[in-house]
Amino acid sequence: MSTEIRTKRLTTRDIRAHKGGEPVVVLTAYTTPMARLLDPHVDILLVGDSLGMVLYGMDSTLGVSVDMMINHGKAVMRGSSRAMVVVDMPFASYQESREQAYRNAARILAESGCAAVKLEGGREMADTIHFLTSRGVPVMAHIGLMPQSVNTAGGFRAHGRDEDEAAVIRADARAIAEAGAFCVVVEGTVEPVARALTEEIAIPTIGIGASPACDGQVLVAEDVLGLFNDFTPKFVKRFADLSPLISQAAADYAAEVKARTFPTPQHCFGIPKKAKE
Ligand code: KIV
Repeated sequence: MSTEIRTKRLTTRDIRAHKGGEPVVVLTAYTTPMARLLDPHVDILLVGDSLGMVLYGMDSTLGVSVDMMINHGKAVMRGSSRAMVVVDMPFASYQESREQAYRNAARILAESGCAAVKLEGGREMADTIHFLTSRGVPVMAHIGLMPQSVNTAGGFRAHGRDEDEAAVIRADARAIAEAGAFCVVVEGTVEPVARALTEEIAIPTIGIGASPACDGQVLVAEDVLGLFNDFTPKFVKRFADLSPLISQAAADYAAEVKARTFPTPQHCFGIPKKAKE
């Protein structure tokens, strides 16, 4: 008889149960080793399309493909066993029609093994979200600052500063919640608006630069760990500063190689039998 205990992953139901209670803890992950380290501590591992910038050095997220997301989704699934894994739908993989969205979302779920997809958009995406969720595809929505629309939104800036913009975000939140999203990322949104919409809708709001008034927070793991220095948003608190440690370790390694002081095979594997005789 097997004594193995299989840990069940968190589900959309578990995440929804956080509404108004203990905050939902979310970090991004793109690789197996990072997923292994983060999995015990988070409720959701988000394979964000931010990987285009953080891992691939792109200027924006617009060049990320469905294949890239599937491959990184698979890697994160291999490195985790408890957290719910959500994979971002990249730019131009869902905006054209709800059928296009379904085809790509179904590929992402089936090929990566993840539990849900995330897509950006408010009222204009409500019909698509309803189409997906009523056909077995759980959706995490994403409103407020939407990086895939950065070219039409006038850059990266806080949203909801004036009354019109606040009304738009609140209407977006209501629309995606009614459409069936199980939770929603609220990005770059001022506190009073984040608070108001969190009170208004029945699903958890996961803030990023949107204050602790939300039902949880998501951050990019590399930002939190001090591994991505191209641009760090002001709201990100660094819990570690790993870049200098990595640089120093690489420099120490290089010095050891140049000085030929690294361990010889005998040190590692013992002296071969013949050499002993
Ligand atoms: O792409 C991403 O990583 C995201 C989060 C930062 C919310 O969308």
